[in-house]
Amino acid sequence: MNKKVIVKKTVAFVRQKLQEESSGHDWWHIHRVVKMAKTIGKKEKADLFVVELAALLHDLDDWKNNNGDSLVGVKAATDVLKKFGIPNKTIKHVAKIIENISFKGILDKKSKLTSLEGKIVQDADRLDAMGAIGIGRVFAYGGNKGQLMYDPSERADAKEFGKRLSKTAINHFYEKLLLLKDLMNTKTAKKIAKERHKFMEEYLDRFFREWEGKI
Ligand code: ADP
Ligand code: NI
Repeated sequence: MNKKVIVKKTVAFVRQKLQEESSGHDWWHIHRVVKMAKTIGKKEKADLFVVELAALLHDLDDWKNNNGDSLVGVKAATDVLKKFGIPNKTIKHVAKIIENISFKGILDKKSKLTSLEGKIVQDADRLDAMGAIGIGRVFAYGGNKGQLMYDPSERADAKEFGKRLSKTAINHFYEKLLLLKDLMNTKTAKKIAKERHKFMEEYLDRFFREWEGKI
């Protein structure tokens, strides 16, 4: 099987698999992460085949939905790749990337995401939580959970970055989105993240101004 066919078959497999998912990791998140990972991968001169497969398979089974068992997704990914007759080395590489990708991964000092391809997919995944798309995802998530957009009496201030002070969508910017720019691995992603961060800061600035009836 050539690489193009393998990618096509993997796309079909992931789309079908995620149709049964309602966890916020819909197919279009995967689609965007694949595109971004390829854009970064080209600039960073990575193995684009590994980048694309890992990006496609990175959210098959989120650890949050499996009582902390991150290996469910890895196993599903490995099983499908084995059917395509890909070299074992490539399968192992992709599996290692999937296993180590997650926001939890960065908090874990033992994170073993060492390959360039792994760093790229992680960057692309994190970039999808930033900028215009990231903002959209936060409010979609909050709406789905029945949370308030914002509650001024629980406002997280800059000194408390990273802390979960309230369950509002706006608080999620402080506990996650605004931290992401400093967590990028590659030079290319750092540049994109800087731009998206600035946009989110501008967005928050406008949000708070509008909240107070300012022009
Ligand atoms: P990832 O895809 O990186 O694993 P998550 O599963 O944590 O991210 O979240 C999926 C999306 O939902 C992200 O865009 C994230 O910013 C958003 N999200 C996660 N938790 C919250 C929350 N408590 N409030 C608002 N948005 C959230
Ligand atoms: Ni993801």
